[in-house]
Amino acid sequence: MNDLAGKHVVLGLSGGIACYKAAELCRALIKAGASVQVVMTEAAAQFITPVTMQALSNRPVYTSQWDVREHNNMAHINLSREADAILIAPCSADFIARLLHGRADDLLSLLCLARPIAQVPLLIAPAMNREMWAHPATQRNLAQLQADGATLLGVGSGFQACGETGDGRMLEPQELLEDVIAFFQPQRLAGQQVLITAGPTYEAIDPVRGITNLSSGKMGFAIARAAREAGAQVTLVAGPVGLPTPRGVTRVDVRSARDMFEAVMQHAQAAALFVATAAVADWRPASAAAQKIKKDGTGQCPSMAFTENPDILASVAQSPRAQSGALFCVGFAAESHDLLAHASAKRARKGVPLLVGNIGPATFGQDDNALLLVDEHGAHELPRASKLELARQLIANIADRIRAAA
Ligand code: C5P
Repeated sequence: MNDLAGKHVVLGLSGGIACYKAAELCRALIKAGASVQVVMTEAAAQFITPVTMQALSNRPVYTSQWDVREHNNMAHINLSREADAILIAPCSADFIARLLHGRADDLLSLLCLARPIAQVPLLIAPAMNREMWAHPATQRNLAQLQADGATLLGVGSGFQACGETGDGRMLEPQELLEDVIAFFQPQRLAGQQVLITAGPTYEAIDPVRGITNLSSGKMGFAIARAAREAGAQVTLVAGPVGLPTPRGVTRVDVRSARDMFEAVMQHAQAAALFVATAAVADWRPASAAAQKIKKDGTGQCPSMAFTENPDILASVAQSPRAQSGALFCVGFAAESHDLLAHASAKRARKGVPLLVGNIGPATFGQDDNALLLVDEHGAHELPRASKLELARQLIANIADRIRAAA
């Protein structure tokens, strides 16, 4: 993925043991297509060498405001003017305090102060001991820094280098990468509540067997990530899949179609958008056996009666909020052939303004897909691409529809 293609990031390291993670972060930013200029404080150089960071970024590292390599001897101006963003990772408690006071006696704090504040965003990934993190001075400083326009990327929780356990760890490089990528995405759904279903459902036959399907959940998880990147508050109701939860997304794990129905009905109350990506089982065994069904040696197979599951999408689409236009509903159709005809029929049957068709065998478990968007006017194809790329295009398309309908 080239999510950061064309972006130039100044990666600032202040002093802290989390500097060791900055090496991997630098690599991850570059792999995502960014160019990275590393700037280190004197304290950071106690934890990791500029040589390491130079090798990883493929650029000489800056550590001093008196660096004579710049023709005008103004590294703080030059470096801050060419950046699309400045990311301080790790950002120590002391560096936070320095930023807050507008200190300018080392290169990194100087270039943060000198940055054109409206054009060059400042992203902060704090890293410190849990007591330092919880201290009112740190929390007060962070609140003021955010009020001054900085973006706080949060901290992780867990075992700390000092031996204590708690909040204040720097986020992992992959988490920071996701946050930086999200930061550059257009905020098309800022502040909106979005509800998404994903994955298969599992309908129990007995305590050890059940009926499920091959849905991997990848498309729904990609849509959840794309909606969150677009600024939405996202709830993802997921059937049994082992995928990691996208950053910043609230996940509700369910098993059966009825569990999914209940979770969706509860969360649909506040949502402005519902995207039903889940491959919900149409039927479930009429009654699950309390104990494992055993072979009895006669060669007779057990017979099984089925009951139809509730149609989650159709139920939400019929709710007063959806009917009034307060909740925009999108359905999915996984077909094996005649995609347009089946998707159009399904759109009408479900009573939704937009239905997204895809070919089931070509999408289940895959990392890429192709989508056919079917609405009252006709169809529009999103050609084969990664599921995340398609999810971003779909979210952009839906955001336009919501805006047009408002
Ligand atoms: O009826 P069918 O399963 O073909 O419809 C697919 C669409 O309806 C998907 O958006 C799916 O998530 C949704 N659906 C649902 N509840 C069901 C069956 C399907 O929400 N019981």
